[in-house]
Amino acid sequence: MKQIQKYMTALLCAFVLAGMHMPQNIYAEDEIPQEETVTEETPEEEFGEESEQLEANDLDGFVTRLYQVCLGREPDKSGYMDWMNRLSTGKASAAVAVQGFMMSKEMQNKKLSNADFVEVCYHALMDRASDAGGKKNWVEKLNNGVSRNYILRGFIGSVEFTKLCSKYGVTRGDISLSERRDQNYGLTSFVGRLYNNALGRTPDAGGINNWCDLLILKKRTPKQVATTGFFHSVEFLKKSLNNTEFVKVLYRTFLDREYDTGGLNDWVGRLNNGEYRDTVLAGFADSKEFKNLIDKSGWETLSNKELAKYFNDVNSLLLVANKAHKLPNYYEPSDMRQPNVSARMSTPMRDEAATALEEMFAAAKAQGVYLVAGSGFRSQSYQASLYNGYVARSGQAAADTYSARPGYSEHQTGLAMDISDYSGNTYLSRSFENTAEGKWLKYNAYKYGFIMRYPKTKQSITGYMYEPWHFRYVGKDYAAAMWSCGSEMTFEEYFGVAGGETYY
Ligand code: DAL
Ligand code: ZN
Repeated sequence: MKQIQKYMTALLCAFVLAGMHMPQNIYAEDEIPQEETVTEETPEEEFGEESEQLEANDLDGFVTRLYQVCLGREPDKSGYMDWMNRLSTGKASAAVAVQGFMMSKEMQNKKLSNADFVEVCYHALMDRASDAGGKKNWVEKLNNGVSRNYILRGFIGSVEFTKLCSKYGVTRGDISLSERRDQNYGLTSFVGRLYNNALGRTPDAGGINNWCDLLILKKRTPKQVATTGFFHSVEFLKKSLNNTEFVKVLYRTFLDREYDTGGLNDWVGRLNNGEYRDTVLAGFADSKEFKNLIDKSGWETLSNKELAKYFNDVNSLLLVANKAHKLPNYYEPSDMRQPNVSARMSTPMRDEAATALEEMFAAAKAQGVYLVAGSGFRSQSYQASLYNGYVARSGQAAADTYSARPGYSEHQTGLAMDISDYSGNTYLSRSFENTAEGKWLKYNAYKYGFIMRYPKTKQSITGYMYEPWHFRYVGKDYAAAMWSCGSEMTFEEYFGVAGGETYY
């Protein structure tokens, strides 16, 4: 220990000489930093008076304390030196050091329960025993699926930890959270409640991260996760819950509360009268109360922010072309090919969309429905000649309701196809909706990754009249997620992107 003290004194002198204020980033509670950043600037007042810190500087006390409180032992020489070095040179902040201890192998080997882990957090970061209310809140969060790093970060942001750092003269800093389950607690806890209440077990990290990833990328809606992910799972079905228990689980998962007797009796009555469980589940999933809960979580904002980069990315399958989104001038995809299907003319699509189209046409054919490809990719100049022709024929105002101006057509993305019936009699005509081909497409296209892009009732949103023949590839996840929201769901509504009938 003597030697260590010597080393320390030397280290401290160097440290004091170098000036002790280590600048770094502090993030607002709701901001999730993507990378660990501990070397940027931060306002002085975050850490109190610099002179006070210099006087109070006690790195040794800080590090020794972490060994004692977190690991329950005295420091070993090499570990101690390492932390002293990292803290004194600013390579690690107090937050990173605490994380280093609390998430270490040694700590993990203790196999602490969630409650015990939280208790250690109180002692290590707040220098006190837990209060019952606070502890319950953190343990609930862990049981609902967030990581232990998420809890640590909560403690790191506390006034008490900031004061503790100040007392020892250590730069507080922050840690970053990178797991999907730590990005939106409202969403994570919804999935966590499904684990806890539907399956009767706490979530595993891999599983809940995966569901949160699908939800944040909007590849699944919360309703889909509940239905196909949990209530249709073998694990859930094996529990053979009776109708009453089933409805109680719906209250606890979707509404995050206990049932009220009136509501419970009403739903159970319906089930006892032969109502499908999925219909009752939809009642909960589509309820205002659940919508408010999800809205409050900020999921929509987080997802839209996450996906924003794709809507103008020509390499993305979510590339948008509408009256509010012009494509890059004379853009042409580089990965197009002619799909191997019966077609009115040679008309390529992007490779992935072409493969999906082939799969869709083959499936339809197997069911006796003969689809014919009409118009796929259209270059900007071809679109110009089409559009100008329509303007000459019916005037610009009318043409704008059914033909995109050059540079704005989804056909230019190589992701869209106008599809014809076998006879060709209803090609590009509204009556296509009445043909076997039109009906089959409406109800099945989503299974192959396509959406009907311009539904009947959504002209004010998509900007175009109803086109029962125009299908656009978005991939199977997105197509199915959108279909689960109803047959008239539009790209603009689902992803919250600008559209409408006006050109900008
Ligand atoms: N008919 C569609 C809107 C287009 O011209 O791209
Ligand atoms: Zn079209």
